Amino acid sequence: MTPKTLYDLPTPSLVLDRAKLARNLRRMADACARNGVALRPHLKTAKSIDVARMVLNDETQGIAVSTLCEAEYFASHGIRDIQYAVCITPDKLERVAAIQAGGAKVALITDNAGVARAIADANGRIDTTFYVQIEIDCGENRTGVLPDSDQVTEIARILDAAPNVDFDGVMTHAGHSYGCRSLEEIEALAETERLAAVTAAEAVRAAGIDCRTVSIGSTPTALHARHLDGVTEARAGVYMFGDVFQAQILSCTLDDLAISVLTDVSSHRPDLNHLTVDAGALALSKDRSTENVSNDVGFGLVGDIAGKIVAPQLIVTRVYQEHGLVPMCEGQRLEDYPIGRRLRIYPNHVCMTVAMYDRYYVVDSDEGNGTDIVAVWSRVNGW
Ligand SMILES: Cc1ncc(COP(=O)(O)O)c(C=O)c1O
Repeated sequence: MTPKTLYDLPTPSLVLDRAKLARNLRRMADACARNGVALRPHLKTAKSIDVARMVLNDETQGIAVSTLCEAEYFASHGIRDIQYAVCITPDKLERVAAIQAGGAKVALITDNAGVARAIADANGRIDTTFYVQIEIDCGENRTGVLPDSDQVTEIARILDAAPNVDFDGVMTHAGHSYGCRSLEEIEALAETERLAAVTAAEAVRAAGIDCRTVSIGSTPTALHARHLDGVTEARAGVYMFGDVFQAQILSCTLDDLAISVLTDVSSHRPDLNHLTVDAGALALSKDRSTENVSNDVGFGLVGDIAGKIVAPQLIVTRVYQEHGLVPMCEGQRLEDYPIGRRLRIYPNHVCMTVAMYDRYYVVDSDEGNGTDIVAVWSRVNGW
């Protein structure tokens, strides 16, 4: 039977609110337009062609991905401009060439002269042109070369000299923006991110090498940058769905959360004044990102079947593989949550939560009571 409403679904299931998604997409598109840069939506979170179709338009054509599996999937659906935004390893080059043979361009990133040489050495062996960017570290201390280091021009020269490479520019990612707690901090970090990318691009140009792409991005910095002079594009991903953590670091509000996990109340412990739901660690993830922010929501914030947040303190405090534990908070009584009652849990870190599912059950809170399923969208998982 085709499910018609959230009452028809097995639990746990992943629910996507299309109206909230659309609003989130508009907010980021407006921020990029205001700063005069292209938006390159990062589809590492959504991993869905249906979501991509909602993001892409005449102005927004290119995407970023975090796995080659995503690159293959989106290329097979006709997307032609893809950035694989994780450092490439030489063993993946044949797979990249196979995707490009189908007509898509897959820009690669590296922060390593040895890898740049390995790409150049594939000349004559792998029949494709590799588009390669240099990853710059703007302070996250994860990957990338420092913007003012000699490695920037060293790698650029290797790539530029290689007959099988089209040197594509520089990119950086201020992932440490998730550590910011105020608008001022995010704005300052956005400027650090911008400067890192622009400084590296200028070093490349000073070496006589064209630097087409100057790519920055994380949801907080792309949304709140005061200006992006010298930058060509902003990548962002989690903004599409939002999560409780992003709401606490000012990327969105709790009203904007587009993803929730549909779950059933599965047991009562009146002696301990808690219930359990059938969404545990595998259904919600064990990410605890709100632990050190303004309001710790444990492993998720509880909403009712229509997605309305019941009480700010009604949260999943413990998870086991298939159990989530919800203690009653002030004003809530176990008897109001009979076994079988359907709830929707808003996750802490949505990227980790959605990764466990193969589809989105789509509802639309702007239509009716928001519990009718208006579409089922598939996701691609794996590497
Ligand atoms: C290289 C890179 N760019 C962009 C992003 C998007 O960041 P966000 O999800 O905060 O928008 C990520 C996220 O992991 C990333 O690793």
